[in-house]
Amino acid sequence: MILTNIRLSVRFRWTLCLTNQMVKRVKVSAPGKIILSGEHAVVYGCPALLSAVNKRLTITQWGDKKKISSDIPIGCGMGSSAAFAVASSALNIKLKGKKWDLEEINKEAYKMEKRQHGNPSGGDNTISTYGGFLWYRKESEQLKIFSPIRVKIRLPKFYIINTGKPYESTKDMILIAAELKERKPRRFENIINKIGIVTKSFLKYFTNEEKMVFSELIKENERLLEDLGVVSKSTAWLIRKIEKIGGAAKISGAGGRKLYSGILLVCHPDEEKLLNFAKDEHLNIFPIRLGEEGVKNEKTN
Ligand code: MEV
Repeated sequence: MILTNIRLSVRFRWTLCLTNQMVKRVKVSAPGKIILSGEHAVVYGCPALLSAVNKRLTITQWGDKKKISSDIPIGCGMGSSAAFAVASSALNIKLKGKKWDLEEINKEAYKMEKRQHGNPSGGDNTISTYGGFLWYRKESEQLKIFSPIRVKIRLPKFYIINTGKPYESTKDMILIAAELKERKPRRFENIINKIGIVTKSFLKYFTNEEKMVFSELIKENERLLEDLGVVSKSTAWLIRKIEKIGGAAKISGAGGRKLYSGILLVCHPDEEKLLNFAKDEHLNIFPIRLGEEGVKNEKTN
């Protein structure tokens, strides 16, 4: 009788302990990103200037239940897959009771990104992990260099126009650029080098080392991406219209060639004019904040 009671009480404590573990909530979030300059070229060892944005993906887990919520447009160049990889990697670390270690989170997220995109630069997961503004360069598979950027100017107000989810994946778009490299190596080299130079100019503008007309840098970057073949005709046409009304826009991310090219990073000195234009053209437009926080260990209640 006594023995049975002890057994029951042990079992009861075990059950309680399991229930407690099962209801324990773990919550993490990771931001989306925009590439100010350097997409595609960064895959070939050129630098990229990246920023985390105020759109996030959150994963909550309790017991065997998991909830994923996100306001990052999916598959449109805003780093939805990287945010998922970073948040998943952070969640694993928490579930295993390991130390919150950004380097470790980023490393595991990069592995996931590689499984999905083939040959990514690792920039997307790195900015989603560390947040803020980053100068990023993949020297080799083993050596990826990045440094936070202190922005020393008053940034213009940025908008995102979503042209729609491209038919092509990031992997497809990386392959499109690789095909040009194969077919026309000198032309490719020339475009990539020029993108590298523009990215440096972006950096000097942001750190206030050189005075520049920011909209001209955006336009130059966009033209080079069009030359690379990662922007669809209808997107290029829309961008020309934005330029005609006094603004500047570029694709941000892998782009898309058949029809939609994902998100555009847009700026315009006259906000009202831009918003009216977007309304007339039935465009999906929203303001975006840059330099936001990276992966976060969220509080649960
Ligand atoms: C995708 O967001 C950016 C690309 O440069 C690919 C990469 O960096 O892995 C197109």
